[in-house]
Amino acid sequence: MKILVTGAAGFIGSHTAERLAREGHQVVGVDNFSDYYKPELKHQNVRDLLAQEVQVINIDLCDVVAMSQLPNDFNYIFHFAAQPGIAPHITFEDYLKNNVTATKTILDFAQTCRDLNLFVNIGTSSIYGLEAVSSETAAPKPASFYGVTKLAAEQLALQLTREKKIKVCSLRLYSVIGPRERPEKLFTKLIEAGLKNQPFPLFEGSQNHLRSFTYVGDIVDGIVSVMGKDDVVDGEVINLGTEKEYSTQQGIDAVEEILGLNIQLDIKSKRRGDQDRTHAVIDKARQLLDYNPQTTLVDAVRSQVEWFKSTMIP
Ligand SMILES: NC(=O)c1ccc[n+]([C@@H]2O[C@H](COP(=O)([O-])OP(=O)(O)OC[C@H]3O[C@@H](n4cnc5c(N)ncnc54)[C@H](O)[C@@H]3O)[C@@H](O)[C@H]2O)c1
Repeated sequence: MKILVTGAAGFIGSHTAERLAREGHQVVGVDNFSDYYKPELKHQNVRDLLAQEVQVINIDLCDVVAMSQLPNDFNYIFHFAAQPGIAPHITFEDYLKNNVTATKTILDFAQTCRDLNLFVNIGTSSIYGLEAVSSETAAPKPASFYGVTKLAAEQLALQLTREKKIKVCSLRLYSVIGPRERPEKLFTKLIEAGLKNQPFPLFEGSQNHLRSFTYVGDIVDGIVSVMGKDDVVDGEVINLGTEKEYSTQQGIDAVEEILGLNIQLDIKSKRRGDQDRTHAVIDKARQLLDYNPQTTLVDAVRSQVEWFKSTMIP
């Protein structure tokens, strides 16, 4: 199959592109190497992808002219490109451009692909709001510009299947962790703080947050499993994550245990928009995709520590 992966230089997109190539598919990646975090980290991911013969083309999805020059013989499109995160320096316009406008453009492109079997939108548990603990039937109540614009992107994608233009599904991911995790996220920051003996900035109260921390390999299992189930998943929203729930404090404990040291916490004032609790309800994924994530928190963190030591420490 010929597959387009958007956001292929990023954390989850790069793992997915790599897996698809390993499974023998012809994979083309696109990414604008946004400077939301160090582009060098994305180039590092791309070097790993080149070893699997996956090329990542530097394109901004909003650049309609550049998009029109892509070949349009793709069988699947996996759409990861987005403005993630809820940091205060990200403006509403950043979310609007990279989550809504970029999705509209890739959807326009998808409709030109005559052999397209399925468009896979990558959604997020943030669509549910401050508590993401229900099945896919729960009403969305996003509490951040990130969640609102990701919901808009998901609806733009699903609109096309309602209009019977292309087949679409949307996968809502829960707190993904593991090698290549973004540098501003919990585990990469914790590991860095521990190894460099620096204080870890913890938002007040967040040690009690509950999360379905899910290993990236388990997430990729679920994502690629939609292939060949095009009719089954068409029009569906499906949660992907582990049903196990961990507090942030348990995450900190796991990192400390693996590194064999204590991390000094630097308490910062509470951050708005942070989810209080995420707990993936995955009955639908189990039923439709035979989804069964198994990696424990400790194993996931251990592999992230190994990755950090091998690539991030000069
Ligand atoms: N990381 C998580 O825990 C998590 C949880 C739920 C959902 N998600 C979703 O998964 C997807 C990937 O997230 P990630 O954590 O890998 O983030 P990431 O930032 O590492 O990857 C996103 C990539 O998209 C690229 N990009 C952004 N705007 C673009 C544009 N206009 N044109 C082309 N490329 C663009 C970025 O350069 C980046 O490489 C996102 O859609 C995110 O909403 C992530």
